Amino acid sequence: MKLLVINGPNLNLLGIREPDIYGKQDYPDLVRLIEATCLELGVNVEIFQSNHEGAIVDKIQAAYGAMDAIVINPAAYTHTSVAILDALKAVGLPAVEVHLSDVRSRDDFRQISYAGMACEKTIMGKGFQGYVEAIRYLAQKL
Ligand code: DQA
Repeated sequence: MKLLVINGPNLNLLGIREPDIYGKQDYPDLVRLIEATCLELGVNVEIFQSNHEGAIVDKIQAAYGAMDAIVINPAAYTHTSVAILDALKAVGLPAVEVHLSDVRSRDDFRQISYAGMACEKTIMGKGFQGYVEAIRYLAQKL
């Protein structure tokens, strides 16, 4: 299975960014955990992070015919981006949405997830383990 993991804006600043919400581990720690999980499960993974909406749309489009599934934490674009929703719908790959924090218990403006409308599962509030759960779910399914 070929898996694309996409992380949206400001996730590159994990460890620095609001550690009370997102934890003290940094982005390279997250990348290492995703790679170790995929190695264990025999999943071929590509991990992509961008602060730019269009770059994320381009990456989702490029997954068509090249990847089998997507794990996505669109970060702030979760709550604003119809373009990312449309890209996910366009490629039609099984996708799981991950959020480090429990967005349900946060601000009103975080209560809508556009990307989530194109995902078969959402995992939130479990920190880095949410990615492990998402990868396991897709590896089992495919
Ligand atoms: C986030 C939650 C979003 O609301 C926020 O904008 C992020 C990170 C999370 O992983 O908890 O940047 O997606």
